[in-house]
Formats: sequence, structure tokens, C-alpha cells
Amino acid sequence: MTITKEKTLAAKVRKDFPILNQEVNGKPLIYFDSAATSQKPIAVLNTLRDYYEQYNANVHRGAHTLSVKATEGYEGARNKVASFVNAASRQEIVFTRNATEAINLVAYSWGLNTLQPGDEIILSVMEHHSNIVPWQLIAQKTGAVIKYVGLSETEGFDLEQFKQLISDKTKLVSVVHVSNTLGCINPVEEIIAIAHRYGAKVLIDACQSVPHMPIDVQAMDCDWLVASGHKMCAPTGIGFLYGKLELLESMPPFFGGGEMISEVYLDHSTYNELPHKFEAGTPAIGEAIALGAAVDYLTELGMDKIHAYEEELIAHLFEKLHEIPDLKVHGPQPTADGKGRAALASFTVGEFHPNDLSTLLDHEGIAIRSGHHCTQPLHRILGVPGTARASLYFYNTREEIDTFIAALKETIDFFGSIMG
Ligand code: ALA
Repeated sequence: MTITKEKTLAAKVRKDFPILNQEVNGKPLIYFDSAATSQKPIAVLNTLRDYYEQYNANVHRGAHTLSVKATEGYEGARNKVASFVNAASRQEIVFTRNATEAINLVAYSWGLNTLQPGDEIILSVMEHHSNIVPWQLIAQKTGAVIKYVGLSETEGFDLEQFKQLISDKTKLVSVVHVSNTLGCINPVEEIIAIAHRYGAKVLIDACQSVPHMPIDVQAMDCDWLVASGHKMCAPTGIGFLYGKLELLESMPPFFGGGEMISEVYLDHSTYNELPHKFEAGTPAIGEAIALGAAVDYLTELGMDKIHAYEEELIAHLFEKLHEIPDLKVHGPQPTADGKGRAALASFTVGEFHPNDLSTLLDHEGIAIRSGHHCTQPLHRILGVPGTARASLYFYNTREEIDTFIAALKETIDFFGSIMG
């Protein structure tokens, strides 16, 4: 009897990503930088091209055929995103340029108009700069105070410290779901439930979770959630804000301009209904439609299957990384079967500079990121100026991990030999 081994997810999808089928510096490309930006499947590229080639027109403004088609595509993409994260209403999805813009929208619309001197905002030390700096700006303007949850012993979110920090003064908790540096999957449901007991609102930065695992905003019960399209197989320049309907209704506009208005007079204006109230000016139409195509593509693959396959990859990656002496991966360890952690590993090796590691690996066609990954405060706490980071997606393979590990070992041996 012949036993046919089931194809891995990567084997099934690899043909959809022509960019991965190339040589870089004379070696087959291994793309391990998907936490920075993911690659885009042909279906998404074709959708973007079709829009510009066949029905490029502005949305919501014209009665002509192309405009109607563009509007249907744009609003259809909103429906897809809403159902992808299980929003209760399509009006709860606001298209933004990226997650950073979505956080700034909440900070300026809600934070600036709500926070009072002495009110407290709780963030964590592992936040991306985009979930720190907007709140610093708002705190400076309102007199609100920022408090930070530190790291647990395993370099994850310190839930016990969070329970100590939260109080009736807390008006906002804004935390990352999956850390882009530590790879930990934070207990957001528990954080949200605790925050709500104190009457605080919760924003979840889901940039590194929405592309990799099923997300249900209603089950999570977050007040806002943000994500960027380009990390989930869509183009750059498009992201989204999810917000509970009543909350978004209560928030004033962030940007003023066309499209977000109902009536404009010389001395005042009235505003459009949700979500248009927050979408001033001509939006990234083709990019939003392409985000809809990315959502279709991911849904077709199955977010549960993507997550399970990435667990296999992370288990293999950690097993191999542990073979390397003096290599430290930051963040909590996964279980032996890859659970409890996202498919990324930020690491340091002895005294070697992460930039040197990534430069030499690039000579071998391997793309990893090095530096502070927009988490400078976290790196200070970890006591390192930067880390090297390998971040994987469903199109990566175990064989690529093996090649990466072999190249990393050679790189370390090379540096070791020249440093004596
Ligand atoms: N925030 C992105 C990263 O982690 C750019 O690399």
C-alpha cells in the first residue's frame, strides 16, 4: 500500500507567491521577515491590478458605472473584514492607512476628548512605538498618566503586575495581542475582562495576531482593535480600526474633509454616519479592495489551519535554535508542539551584533530583520541594543528553517574565527 503524505500548507500555497521563487545573492530566497511585512499572493496582486485596469474610479461620489463598481468593491471589502474579525456590524470597521493611523485616530478622537488630569492609561513595556508615542502625546495634552506593565519571569506580559496597576483611575488599557519582538501571545481576554470591571476601555494592537490566528472581536470583547493590511497578504497603505458601534458613535471625527461630512456650511458642518465619519478624503480604494481579496485568500486557507501549521514551524524552529550555543531567544518558550507563541524568534548570539548576523545571512539569500523592531523601551529592558529576528508565515517550510540554521551556524563560526 502506498501512503501518500499530505502536502504541507506551504507546499500548497507556494505557487501563489511568485516573489518567493527567486534567487537573492545567488541563493534561493528564504523570506523570514513577515512580521515586518508579508508577501502578497497572486490573487491579491491581480485584484489590485484589475481595479486600476478596469474600474478605477472614486467611491461614493458618482452615479456612473465605474464609480458604482468601485464603491461596491470598497464597501464589499469592508464586509469581508467585518466578518473576518466577527464584528457585529460592518459600520464598526473603519479603513485607515495602517494600524498606526488607527491608534492615532482613537488617541486623538477619544483620548484627547475624554481623558482628564490624573486619569491613567495602562500600556505594556513590550508595545510597539505606535502604541506608546500617540499616548505620550495625548498624556502631555490632557494631564493623563501612563503606567506600564512589565515583563513576567518568562519575558511575557506580567498579568499579576497588571492586576496591581489597574484601579478606578484607569480609563484606558492599550496592549499588544502578539508581541512583534517577544512572540508571546498575551492573555487579552483576561486583560479585557479585568479592565472592564474597572470601567476602563481596551484597545488591542492585533497587527501580529490578525494575520496568523482566528480573531473574534465579540468573543474578545475589546473596545477597539487595530491591524495593518500589509502584514496579512494585502498591500501597504491600508489597515483598519474595529470599534464597538456605540463607542465609535460617541467619538468626534479625527480628520476633517470630504466624505466624512453630511452638510457643510460656512460656520459649521454636520457629519456622515459611521464608518464614513472617520474616512475623510479619497481612501485607498484599490488597496482596500485588495485587502478584501487577502481576507478571502486567508479565509479559504482557514485561519485555524494557518495557526496550526505555524505552530509546527515554531516547534521546529525552536528545536533547531536550541542547538546553537550562546544563542538566546527572547520571550516565553513554546511548548514542544509549538503552542503558546507566535512564529517568530528574536535572538542574540553572545556578543555578536544582530546587524552583522543579518547582513551575512543576506549574503546567503536569507532575509531576517535586525535592530530594535520599533520596540526600543523593550530592548532597553532586555539589556540589548537590538536583536536578530526570524519571523515566519504559512508559506515558509521546515526545509527553509534547516537552511537558515545551517547558515546561522556558519555565520557564527565565521565571526568566532575572525574575533579569535
Ligand atoms: N512593526 C513591524 C515589525 O515588527 C514593522 O517589523
